[in-house]
Amino acid sequence: MLWWSDSLKTGNVKVDTQHKKIFELGTGVLDLTPESSNETLQETFQELIDYTKKHFAEEEKMMGDHGYSKLQEHQGLHREFIQKLHNTLQDFKASGPTEENVDNLKLLMVDWLINHINEADKNFIQKL
Ligand SMILES: [Fe+2]
Ligand SMILES: [Fe+2]
Repeated sequence: MLWWSDSLKTGNVKVDTQHKKIFELGTGVLDLTPESSNETLQETFQELIDYTKKHFAEEEKMMGDHGYSKLQEHQGLHREFIQKLHNTLQDFKASGPTEENVDNLKLLMVDWLINHINEADKNFIQKL
């Protein structure tokens, strides 16, 4: 699977499994081509957004249950990512899976998500 490596493991099996699934769904979006139908594009993207939201909600619940001090800050980061995904979806809807749109999504998944897992997620798992 694209991008996943064991170095991204947080040590929490449930969280790690969900992260892998997000990468899997992200790979599905990146596999779209300019010939993919608009319907396929939206369905694939929506699945990624829905699953990511669900994952974020579960992380936030874990943090809340354990009284994690940086919950609000972490929540803000999650919201930011969902917003970015929505913006990217709008771009895809407007012009399809063009090279530029696909590159932007790759950047988002790689830069944002990998950094988030490596820093913010690993930090909260350590504190549980
Ligand atoms: Fe996460
Ligand atoms: Fe997170």
